[in-house]
Amino acid sequence: MSKAARGCVRIVTPVLLLLALNLPTTRCGYQLTGVLDDCFCDVESIEAFNNYKIFPKLQKLQERDYFRYYKVNLKRPCPFWADDGQCSIKDCHVEPCPESKIPVGIKSGNYNKYSSELNDGEHVEACDQANELGAVNSTLSNQSKEAFIAWARYDDAQDHFCELDDELSPDVQYVDLLLNPERYTGYKGPSAWRVWNSIYEENCFKPRSVYRPLNPLAPSIGGENGESFYEWLEGLCLEKRVFYRLISGLHASINLHLSAKYLLEGTWGESNWGPNPLEFKRRFDPVETKGEGPRRLKNLYFLYLIELRALSKVASYFERSIVDLYTGNMEEDRETKNLLLEIFKDTQSFPMHFDEKSMFAGNKKEAKSLKEEFRLHFKNISRIMDCVGCDKCRLWGKLQTQGLGTALKILFSEKEIQSLPENSPSKGFQLTRQEIVALINAFGRLSTSIKELQTFKVLLHENSNIG
Ligand SMILES: *[C@@H]1O[C@H](CO)[C@@H](O)[C@H](O)[C@H]1NC(C)=O
Ligand SMILES: *[C@@H]1O[C@H](CO)[C@@H](O)[C@H](O)[C@H]1NC(C)=O
Ligand SMILES: *[C@@H]1O[C@H](CO)[C@@H](O)[C@H](O)[C@H]1NC(C)=O
Repeated sequence: MSKAARGCVRIVTPVLLLLALNLPTTRCGYQLTGVLDDCFCDVESIEAFNNYKIFPKLQKLQERDYFRYYKVNLKRPCPFWADDGQCSIKDCHVEPCPESKIPVGIKSGNYNKYSSELNDGEHVEACDQANELGAVNSTLSNQSKEAFIAWARYDDAQDHFCELDDELSPDVQYVDLLLNPERYTGYKGPSAWRVWNSIYEENCFKPRSVYRPLNPLAPSIGGENGESFYEWLEGLCLEKRVFYRLISGLHASINLHLSAKYLLEGTWGESNWGPNPLEFKRRFDPVETKGEGPRRLKNLYFLYLIELRALSKVASYFERSIVDLYTGNMEEDRETKNLLLEIFKDTQSFPMHFDEKSMFAGNKKEAKSLKEEFRLHFKNISRIMDCVGCDKCRLWGKLQTQGLGTALKILFSEKEIQSLPENSPSKGFQLTRQEIVALINAFGRLSTSIKELQTFKVLLHENSNIG
């Protein structure tokens, strides 16, 4: 693509967003490219649509039994490097991390069992805390457990086109997502860094010749020609750039959740969670991030539009009477489905869409191999999620990558979806319960991110008024 073709664009230009954050803006300074040209979007419309229309409905939908229980295998070993154990927080010297049974009151007081062994007991404390916050609460009522057996029987009787092998593993368990909200866990440091690093470095189509650090802020050594990170990105074909944007958007979204549901200081023991504007600024403020923050948020919007597009495309699959959202309670199932269809209608009424037709539109053979490469890279990223050292982070990482994977599957199956027979099980295109649950909850997370952004804007605005 020529430089000119990538010029100034009308679309997801986050002018409004930047204004709200009190930033200098240059109207055409953003290198938005390609596909987004086909979408007449502005941030304000997306926000209004999301925050007032979609978000409240999604919240309701996610509380439904069908959507609140996610089947997941959290015990799969990391296929790429030796597991570094549960305790992966920075500077935690204890290996393996002690299963602390000390009551919280004692732990946070002056007495610390480990402080004599280690000069700095704080590390252990931080480690314990990370373990505790990162643990998944696998409590399920007996009633739910019984229901799952019926669900499995029902699902097995369906004519599934393909089975995700994960579902067959004995380690697969149901997790109640409402009991395990995604929020700050203290999981950071080398282990977390390694996961994101390998996603960016090894799975984002990075050409070998280009030295490109995970953090585009790192001193740019450049590639062979000394090119900068963004020059490198611009040089990629549309599809690869899209891939990078999706990953970056996902990363931004996850960081937004952690900033919005932060463990607030001084409340450890009482577990008080809320927005932390400092954390938000650290990750997204244009000055503090040297311009990276707005780019990350832009990618978040981009990801949002992609998943929104997928939802609008898959509507006809669900509109068929043969697809139900089975939990065994007919009344509730019908209501759940109606709510879902209502949300699909909303997504279809939203005029600003990403046009995926321009993806993989090149010559047929090339497009096919690119699509396959895309798929493999993505699959690999979902396997990297098995390397996340904190169960709760792993749970949400897996769910969100599976949700995005499902969205991509939908976008690339448009023809198959259109030609589905009305009243017989489809052979060509099918979604498993797990995929459906992941798709909706992953989109729910993005929707929440957009909503949380608004919260931060208000908070930061208040702060600046006070200051
Ligand atoms: C898990 O959730 C249940 C239900 O809210 C609660 O009673 C229990 O204390 C939780 N367990 C842990 C370890 O937090
Ligand atoms: C759940 O089932 C277990 C074993 O079947 C039983 O021991 C327990 O009392 C049950 N709990 C409730 C709340 O019914
Ligand atoms: C998958 O990811 C791992 C870990 O980052 C990497 O070593 C490997 O090259 C990747 N494989 C593919 C096919 O991208």
